[in-house]
Amino acid sequence: MDAQTTATAAYIAASALFIRSLGGLSNPETARAGNLQGMIGMGLAVGATALLLPPAALPVLAVVVVIGLAIGGTLAQRVAMTSMPQLVAILHSFVGLAAALVGFASQLGGHHPTGAEGVIHSVALYAGIFIGAVTFTGSVVAWGKLEGKIGSKPLTLPGRHGGNLLLVIVVAVLGVVYAMNPEAGLPILLIMSGIGGFLGWHMVMAIGGADMPVVVSMLNSYSGWAAAADGFLLQNDLLIVTGALVGSSGAILSYIMCKAMARSFVSVILGGFGAEEGAAPAKPADGQPVGEAVATDVATLVKELSEASSVIIVPGYGMAVAQAQHPVYALTKLLRARGVEVRFAIHPVAGRLPGHMNVLLAEANLPYDLVLEMDEINDDFPDTDVVLVIGANDIVNPGALDDPSSPIYGMPVLHAWEAARVVVFKRGKGAGYAGVENPLFVRPCTRMLYGDAKKSVDALLAGLSAT
Ligand code: TAP
Repeated sequence: MDAQTTATAAYIAASALFIRSLGGLSNPETARAGNLQGMIGMGLAVGATALLLPPAALPVLAVVVVIGLAIGGTLAQRVAMTSMPQLVAILHSFVGLAAALVGFASQLGGHHPTGAEGVIHSVALYAGIFIGAVTFTGSVVAWGKLEGKIGSKPLTLPGRHGGNLLLVIVVAVLGVVYAMNPEAGLPILLIMSGIGGFLGWHMVMAIGGADMPVVVSMLNSYSGWAAAADGFLLQNDLLIVTGALVGSSGAILSYIMCKAMARSFVSVILGGFGAEEGAAPAKPADGQPVGEAVATDVATLVKELSEASSVIIVPGYGMAVAQAQHPVYALTKLLRARGVEVRFAIHPVAGRLPGHMNVLLAEANLPYDLVLEMDEINDDFPDTDVVLVIGANDIVNPGALDDPSSPIYGMPVLHAWEAARVVVFKRGKGAGYAGVENPLFVRPCTRMLYGDAKKSVDALLAGLSAT
């Protein structure tokens, strides 16, 4: 078998592995295997590409692969679970930059086919650079906002939509000019990539903190399409397949997240939603009942849990911040050993990442059969003795169902308030991500257990163990 045939076979195997990997990642039980399949696929892809290179290029490839592995490995080891969106955002910026650089390298290489092939080549080159530039600057801004280096408040310049539209039209016109004479097109590509970079910066600057995870997944999609365009340019089928997989899965994920948050995709893109994280909650609408939240203590909760026969735990972003998943699992084991039915209710956008809670609970080795999706468990709250809301807020906000003035009105939520007793673990009066008041806290069934979630769960464990 010659090198080309071997590489083609390896590319087909890698494509199959990437598809299987995506399938595996959709379920916590198969996620590890899915991850492994993706890694093997990528190893095959790099190996097969190396086969096609002239021998003189191999040392350069080896050096960059080793540097890339070292940087990627170190970053992944060090990153805290709560900082994962930032890491993902900055990695997308690399994909965008790489896609744009491949386009420039191809332009500088000077090979411009003619006829129909020439048109495809020009379109792929132009689109790859443009989407790459948008992805690069957009992802850097998303990283800056998530990391707190750039304020999360949306930048809403007057006439920004019209301005953006005008720039897109300019890019399209320049594209036609470029395609007519690609050999002399370098200045056009430079101007277009400058405009693309500005558009990426401006569009993400206009998006508020609350929508940032959707934007990260959208940029993920863009980075895939940029890579697919480069696949056409380099006539590399695997890059086309991989880029299309990343592009479409990122788009589907953005759609699922928008749906789970009752946000329209267009309004996310147009921007402007989301308060500063940790800000004081917005004032409730006029005429809405405002009560006092009632605090409880560990001793009272120990007593309530000792008498309970069914418990639902609702984890949220605060559990990730407090890293309370291990004591939460210890608490689950203890209660189950005493005959209490304990289950977890997972909201699709709990935390800050799709599957955030599932990952944390899997890390603590919690059995998967105790973890239920919102739709599977939402009807069981009325038959539940105690609900422990651990660092969650927006996802248990009844205002999403009955307060049309709430910014999260229409978002499906967990009906925790239907249980006999709800205990909310949080540090103080901080709002959730959407920055709104939560009427659950003042419902008669609710008690607040103030303090860091990990410390509270540890104290609860100690109290229960002593009884
Ligand atoms: P949030 O509404 O963000 O509430 C988290 C709560 O945790 C806060 O009210 C905070 O109150 C508390 N907290 C923070 N640190 C804590 C600690 N160390 N110990 C105890 N409590 C702590 O979280 P949620 O209910 O999981 O909702 C997720 C939100 O993120 C939704 O609005 C969702 O739309 C948004 N979002 C999620 C995603 C994905 S994909 N997951 C994507 C985009 C947007 P204190 O400050 O008072 O402690």
